[in-house]
Amino acid sequence: MEFPFDINQLFSERISVLDHNLVASRQSKERPDLVANIVTVVDELGRASARAQQLPAPITSASKLQSQKHQVYLMKDRESSRGSGIVVGFLKVGYKKLFLLDRNGAHVEAEPLCVLDFYVAETLQRHGYGLELFKFMLQHQNVEPELMAYDRPSTKLLAFLAKHYSLIQSVPQVNNFVAFEGFFHKRTVAQLRRVKKPDGEIKPYSSMEREVVRQEQRSLPWPFAPPQSPQRSVSSLSPNAGSSPSRAPPCVTHSSFPRDNREHSPQSPLIDCCRTRRSKLVRVTKRLVMDESGQRVESLSVWISRLIFVSTFQLCSSLSRSQLGFN
Ligand code: ACO
Repeated sequence: MEFPFDINQLFSERISVLDHNLVASRQSKERPDLVANIVTVVDELGRASARAQQLPAPITSASKLQSQKHQVYLMKDRESSRGSGIVVGFLKVGYKKLFLLDRNGAHVEAEPLCVLDFYVAETLQRHGYGLELFKFMLQHQNVEPELMAYDRPSTKLLAFLAKHYSLIQSVPQVNNFVAFEGFFHKRTVAQLRRVKKPDGEIKPYSSMEREVVRQEQRSLPWPFAPPQSPQRSVSSLSPNAGSSPSRAPPCVTHSSFPRDNREHSPQSPLIDCCRTRRSKLVRVTKRLVMDESGQRVESLSVWISRLIFVSTFQLCSSLSRSQLGFN
């Protein structure tokens, strides 16, 4: 990936390690303009990775990196782009507290290092760069690949792990993290705490950015549905299917479902009136319930106003029907 600035000036090493400070060298620590360029690079890499995995939104960005205790290994190629260097790819890892099922189906609590995001530029894939990045990370973190967990690995990552590390046999989980056989074999009892709570009290899905991103974008039935985005589904993963954009599921648009189009509804004026009221309600409710908890509260407010919208719509609809003498 080329950028309109000197990559070699930003990143002195072939593989740089970035954390919440977004500092890749002593030089960039003292130069805010260089930090701004690092932000541009991380954001662009995050977007490219999301596109490659058909995620509805990036799970890696400079602002996310600044607020989380994750580490990004960023690889460059010094010689390319007439000596300015190009970015080859990145690997993001971080510790996550997970509730996992061991081989006997018992819940255990562990906090392994997880692979959270991994991307090599399309034209450079299958040239060994991913392996070089991964090996560097393993050495830097002093960890073995089977002791790590993998956040919803793509088919390409599963093929990569199978090829380079013979990681094939995974232990089924109820969340989207993948742990391989060795994860439970090689870990000491102290590293795997058995969870004594009854099963019903265990939250089955460990929190992860991928799932949060998906839930935020999850589409709803008409009249609440935003346009659908293509999403990668775990159940659709097959060992031979790549996750290249050409294999993306078709994007469903409203135009393919004319009956669902709000503009063609026979009750458009009524809906418009309700929609205006709903927008007002969204603004008012947001103001009422907004606090530091951020987006979760925002979506709660949207839901409340949607409920009010439905009630208003039903009321208006029954009123107009009775005015027309249908009842
Ligand atoms: N289809 C199937 N397997 C692939 C593909 C592909 N298109 N690309 C790489 N692989 C696997 C294969 O095992 C391949 O070996 P092979 O060529 O003999 O079949 C091996 O990876 C190649 O190893 P490297 O060259 O070292 O890996 P690469 O530089 O391609 O990096 C990576 C691997 C990061 C998975 C890269 O393919 C990529 O960016 N893919 C798109 C984004 C993605 O899926 N990222 C993982 C997201 S899931 C997560 O981060 C938890």
